[in-house]
Amino acid sequence: MTASQRTDWIASSGAPLHGELEIPGDKSISHRAVMLAALADGTSHIDGFLEGADTRATATILARMGVRIEAPSPSQRIVHGVGVGGLRAPDGVLDCGNAGTGMRLLAGLLAAQPFDSVLAGDASLSRRPMGRVIEPLSRMGARIDAEDNGLPPLRIHGGRPLHGIDFESPVASAQVKSAVLLAGLQARGGTSVREPHPTRDYTERMLSAFGVDIEFSPGFARLRGGQRLRATDIAVPADFSSAAFFIVAATLVPGSVLRLRAVGLNPRRTGLLAALRAMGADIVEERHDSHGGEPIADLLVRHAPLHGIAVPEVLVADMIDEFPILAIAAACAQGTTIVSGAAELRVKESDRIAAMAAGLRALGGRVEERPDGVLIEGSALHGGSIESLGDHRIAMAFAVAGQLAEEEVTIVDVANVATSFPGFDALARQSGFGLRAA
Ligand code: S3P
Repeated sequence: MTASQRTDWIASSGAPLHGELEIPGDKSISHRAVMLAALADGTSHIDGFLEGADTRATATILARMGVRIEAPSPSQRIVHGVGVGGLRAPDGVLDCGNAGTGMRLLAGLLAAQPFDSVLAGDASLSRRPMGRVIEPLSRMGARIDAEDNGLPPLRIHGGRPLHGIDFESPVASAQVKSAVLLAGLQARGGTSVREPHPTRDYTERMLSAFGVDIEFSPGFARLRGGQRLRATDIAVPADFSSAAFFIVAATLVPGSVLRLRAVGLNPRRTGLLAALRAMGADIVEERHDSHGGEPIADLLVRHAPLHGIAVPEVLVADMIDEFPILAIAAACAQGTTIVSGAAELRVKESDRIAAMAAGLRALGGRVEERPDGVLIEGSALHGGSIESLGDHRIAMAFAVAGQLAEEEVTIVDVANVATSFPGFDALARQSGFGLRAA
């Protein structure tokens, strides 16, 4: 992207946040819905699909392998499944964009195909470790070549029959678990995955919804290879990770009362609620329900003063995408917040430990960077300029910081917000944020 195409934001204190917001669909579930619907026999309808750049990239890749996907509206997809074994060889490199979920899950799905394929991504994705999926998939009989240090692009050699494995994953990663399960579905024999900490179980829940016989419990999953998927309809709940920016903003900005409608509250995603409540936040869950097999509720968030905490390490996997926004809450809290056991943050869309520390320091925040976390001392934030480092969640987190800072905060290069939350800026303004294009 040239400098002239780059979009920057200026965030500044706005009004107290008010109103009722609808947050776009869950990114993790949208990726899986379109992948499993593509592998199913029959036609599946997806409602609440996230029309973001990441999930569109996954849908485009499947379309390039012969899957017909209709989009009657931005949040709907009708997927005409081709059945397991029904994908066609693509005619060139498959571009996953910014999406780690897309690349890692597709690696598992494609490792078992009779044809070769190449998965590539943008500059950020090209720096993210893929050895963690290549290793177990190779043990299943796949052959995947990567750049040095297991970096993308991934060259997947087709026509290699896979066999199941019992995999003890060294990392708590839903993407790794899902890649192994998607390969295992197409492998001879059974496959099981055991995790060091339980991670989001959307692949397991959704395989079950598509009629696959799968056994799973927190931290464990097992299935038999050779099963077919039966088309089904999927209702995607609102993405908790997108809601998180508004939860923290309404907590921090005095006078705010904000309701977020029908947010997905899968317990493997909501560690931030526990952390914020321990810090003193006032977040009430209303109208509990279930949507497409996932727990949902409205969240009523009122301003509350926060105090620092040592974030319990057991919460880390359940709030893995929420540390950029937690850092802003911590910087605006009284006292010290300590994050540890979170070294995975170094290999997200950016090195989020370094990005949080650099961003807060640029605003006068007091931060100590550690190998596996940060220590943040609450203090007043002044204005300044932040590099998003091409990371959507860093950009949105500092848009929230701008609501509390004493002067304007410029956030450089926010185009990647469209990967997970297109329309964030408009919704933010609607709720009271001071936020404009630079
Ligand atoms: C995701 C899993 C997590 C998360 C990512 C989405 C998924 O990554 O950070 O945003 O959809 O499975 P890891 O599996 O690398 O922990």
